[in-house]
Amino acid sequence: MSNPSNADQIAFWNGEAGEKWVKSQDRLDKMLAGISDEIVKTARAAPGEAILDIGCGCGETSLRLAKTAGRVVGIDISRPMLARAAQRAKDAGIANFKAIEADASDHSFGAEFDLLFSRFGVMFFADPDRAFANLRKSLKPGGRLAFVCWRDWRDNEWARVPIAAARPHLPPQPPMGPEDPGPFAFADLARLRRILSSGGFDEITARPFDTQMHLGADHEEALAHTQEFGPVARMMAAASDAEKAKAVAALSAALKPFADRKPFTLGGAVWIVTARI
Ligand SMILES: C[S@@+](CC[C@H](N)C(=O)[O-])C[C@H]1O[C@@H](n2cnc3c(N)ncnc32)[C@H](O)[C@@H]1O
Repeated sequence: MSNPSNADQIAFWNGEAGEKWVKSQDRLDKMLAGISDEIVKTARAAPGEAILDIGCGCGETSLRLAKTAGRVVGIDISRPMLARAAQRAKDAGIANFKAIEADASDHSFGAEFDLLFSRFGVMFFADPDRAFANLRKSLKPGGRLAFVCWRDWRDNEWARVPIAAARPHLPPQPPMGPEDPGPFAFADLARLRRILSSGGFDEITARPFDTQMHLGADHEEALAHTQEFGPVARMMAAASDAEKAKAVAALSAALKPFADRKPFTLGGAVWIVTARI
């Protein structure tokens, strides 16, 4: 059963967004590679451990963790992304990975995991207090949590540069509250700590990590990427063709100063979060 308040996210990740992530899985994993290395290293998966990968998507981190751990369960609401994860596990001969289609905010597990892990899969809960309180119940006594989430969009060059360029040319967006579910929902550390504490987690740490993210081989590929993924892609959805053309021209000009970065990269800024029960 899923939490009805997550219905929008379930529709979103099973619609065009999920299909896009599946189609571009290789490219997105390449873009997030430095961040994956950092969070996997921090999580310190050990042989024999049972791990829950929350919002596992197309399975990149699940499959990586499964090489060390005893077993990995990937939970996600996106059917197409889970299918991709399961297929990748099969192709790689990884037998200790299982994909579950369910809402992590209220799916019941026993106290069976040593580690709750996530790469950008925990910021989309309509009721994060309830979600983390529920997820805590799936940990064995002494179990731990390790996830990565975005810091403020203004600290993230990959979001700030495209937004600043395109926004003046696109229809006004409904104002987004700082606590609304979405990629930047855990940017505010005080809020994040409050949610984890109220969910029953202790020893909470959040460490800033900055990296360069590979957006494509060159300016042209990076321009295509920013129209397809991230905040500008969502803003463009409701725009007319004329507005889109102006936004793309502005986007292209804003990305030009970075064109000598080959491959084309923009900065990413995340929190590496850990906690225990
Ligand atoms: C930004 S994607 C990240 C996917 C994957 N972890 C990765 O790094 O490639 C966010 C993921 O969280 C999943 N998600 C969102 N809300 C969820 C929920 N309530 N329960 C389980 N998964 C959820 C989405 O379906 C999506 O796969």
